[in-house]
Amino acid sequence: MKYVRMPIEIESPEQMGYSTIKYNLSESSYTDTIFKDLNLNMNELVICYGDHVGHPGLRQEIIKGEASNLKIEDVLVTAGAASALFMISTSLLEAGDELVVAKPNYATNIETPKAIGASIKYLPMTFENGYQVDIEALKNLITPKTKLVSLTCPHNPTGTMISETDLKEIIKIIEASNAYLLFDETYRDMSFKFKLPIAASLSERVISVSSLSKTYGLPGIRIGWLITQNKKLQELFLAAKEQIFICGSVVDEEIAYRYMARRNDYFPAIKKDMLEKFEIVKAWMGSQKVFDWIEPSGGVVCFPRIKPEIKVDTKKFYEILLSEFHTYVGPGHWFEESDRSFRLGFGWPSQSELREGLKGLENAVKASQI
Ligand SMILES: Cc1ncc(COP(=O)(O)O)c(C=O)c1O
Repeated sequence: MKYVRMPIEIESPEQMGYSTIKYNLSESSYTDTIFKDLNLNMNELVICYGDHVGHPGLRQEIIKGEASNLKIEDVLVTAGAASALFMISTSLLEAGDELVVAKPNYATNIETPKAIGASIKYLPMTFENGYQVDIEALKNLITPKTKLVSLTCPHNPTGTMISETDLKEIIKIIEASNAYLLFDETYRDMSFKFKLPIAASLSERVISVSSLSKTYGLPGIRIGWLITQNKKLQELFLAAKEQIFICGSVVDEEIAYRYMARRNDYFPAIKKDMLEKFEIVKAWMGSQKVFDWIEPSGGVVCFPRIKPEIKVDTKKFYEILLSEFHTYVGPGHWFEESDRSFRLGFGWPSQSELREGLKGLENAVKASQI
């Protein structure tokens, strides 16, 4: 493995210091939860090693109300979705192995295969094709040597989604190949209009990954999971987990379990606020003249761009945006894209902070025009 730090982490708001940013439009999660608001008394918790697979109650909660073919033993709890992605890539890929991965993408989905030295074929998702997965292009990239296909839906950084028909079509292609499908559905609970089934419920060749970080604003407890019905893969991923962590944090898992058991108390307010924030962004998009976008269908991020005809000094744009307008977004280079595009996270800031940040974006373009 050849590890390299990723710009999305080096330049992340938590590394810069949250207090240095007034209008933080760079996050990809909902507003962080305050522990006190969960009203949890955990004084009796025994700080022992936990179940290596993960808290059984939590695993049950994860599949509750989902496709009935999924069982508790199909779920492996991980330290955030990030470690699930790491364990899957390192378990299934070796140097030189072929994988197909959508680009742009959440950086780890690309960076870990790179660190392994895998032979990466990118499936381009472009503004021109509405940041959609091009199924024909995907088909053409898969060869008998392809070990893994990696897709994210709802997509980070654009918030676009694959339809259920397309997902099933993609799974058919996977089943006709030698590959597994890694389906990163970390934003699934935040789909606006339709929610896909857990992809792993549709085939033994699919591994779903998700997390409590984004929808529920709980990134600090580092709870994610992977789901697969394939028993051999489960054993392989458990071996990876045990070598890295032995088990997860019993404190994190207990908080996650109790939260999930009561998620219906929290989720309606989150969804309402998230949709209101989305409407704020949509109204703003329609009212200004310097940016265009592909409207997202889920998640709390979108990936607008400065209109091609507008000439700006992008370095100056980001500098002024932060220094004069106290606003921070995720520049395109976090995703190996042009800095004329940026990830705008609308779920994390308060509605008034979001409005101020959007004003700042417009003003920063005006101030950095060439
Ligand atoms: C698509 C996607 N997958 C996985 C992750 C990792 O999330 P976590 O490890 O906090 O669960 C992120 C975080 O931004 C993400 O956007």
